[in-house]
Amino acid sequence: MPGDDARSAERGWVFGKIKEQGEWRSKCLNMIASENFASPWVEKAYISDFMHRYAEGTPFNRYYEGTRVIDELEDKANKLFARVLGSKKSDTRPISGAIANMATMRAFTEPGDTIVSLPVPAGAHSSHGRGGVAGLLGLQPKKLAFKNREFTIDVEESSRIIRECKPKLAIVGASLILFPLDISGLKEACEEVGAKLIYDSAHVFGLIFAGRFQSPFKEGADLLTTSTHKTFPGPQGGLIAGSVNEEDWAKVERGVFPRILSNHHLHRIPALLVAAYEMQEFGVAYADQIIKNARAFAQALHERGFKVCAEERGFTECHQVVVDVSEIGGGDWAAKALDRANIIMNKNLLPWDELNLERLTNPSGIRMGVQEMTRFGMKEREMVEVAEFYKRVLMDKEAPEKVKGDVENFRSQFQKIHFTWDLRDLEGIE
Ligand SMILES: Cc1ncc(COP(=O)(O)O)c(C=O)c1O
Repeated sequence: MPGDDARSAERGWVFGKIKEQGEWRSKCLNMIASENFASPWVEKAYISDFMHRYAEGTPFNRYYEGTRVIDELEDKANKLFARVLGSKKSDTRPISGAIANMATMRAFTEPGDTIVSLPVPAGAHSSHGRGGVAGLLGLQPKKLAFKNREFTIDVEESSRIIRECKPKLAIVGASLILFPLDISGLKEACEEVGAKLIYDSAHVFGLIFAGRFQSPFKEGADLLTTSTHKTFPGPQGGLIAGSVNEEDWAKVERGVFPRILSNHHLHRIPALLVAAYEMQEFGVAYADQIIKNARAFAQALHERGFKVCAEERGFTECHQVVVDVSEIGGGDWAAKALDRANIIMNKNLLPWDELNLERLTNPSGIRMGVQEMTRFGMKEREMVEVAEFYKRVLMDKEAPEKVKGDVENFRSQFQKIHFTWDLRDLEGIE
């Protein structure tokens, strides 16, 4: 047993680290495209008795007792997401986007089956490929065709590939994404060969929820998978929605439990519901501002001499901005230099990069997302200032440590969370 001094040192170290992280990131321009910052209301709903409980099964049909209250909450959340997304069903149990993909892929495949997905440099998530979930399930992933410079699916060639290799499913969605993906164009070929069409909306889910990106179910998706914490500012977690028949939906539910999950981290569910209610109220304004900010940021970078991708298409229609930095030092150098200036984003493969170790460790691009800084109140005007910081570090090669002070100063004016309920009302909530 540790003595009093050792105990208090260990405890102090852990809580000190938590404080260090919070203080540090509140001084940063947080621009990782897959992150967000949940509202204090969502945080409040997150820590509760539910974090200690289990509820195997589906609402009102559980293998455990003591689930009366989570049944009501989970059922409400499932129905709300299905209604907003225009699907027949939704399942909020997957604890992450990759788990949602795994459950959905497993539901409709057996080891050895062929599936199709986008190439990794074109933006496919690792879970769609041989190195991730698809490989783990013993699937044979074949690549769809992509028009690299346009950041869009080559529908004609991809349809030909689908007809030729007759996959069990097509999973379409991307971690590097600038524009809606033409899933409707793939529908005919998928139907012909009996492939399920799955849209992985992880990055753009908040924009889709707000009706500001694309409507996957109207466009022909059979299923949608997602994370709940990227442009959708919920607790970290996942979700599956589907417009398939009862028999196929039962396969999805069995894919989640018992095939993959036992505990589904119940405390996420009330927090997810709070995030959904806030998004119903503020989501349209939030999504519109995200898109305006991303475009303003892209334009400001372009005017400062950066090679911003997809100029011909207006740079972006979502939260992401992608820049080719191969001629000014490469993605690895750029991401590390910016980190030293408290600007947090990531290096990224670009669609024309080859998939080899050298490129993976030093890809041509950097990927930025404006969703978190938009939540903290930044608008188009501020995006120009943010672009100027990027220029100072990456183009003018100013010492990042010198820029850092100005970044911190600038960020200190944007500490209040927007697109959330009145925080004064939180005081009355137990
Ligand atoms: C397109 C896509 N799908 C799935 C995932 C996995 O989501 P999670 O991190 O919630 O498992 C990601 C993560 O970034 C993603 O970009």
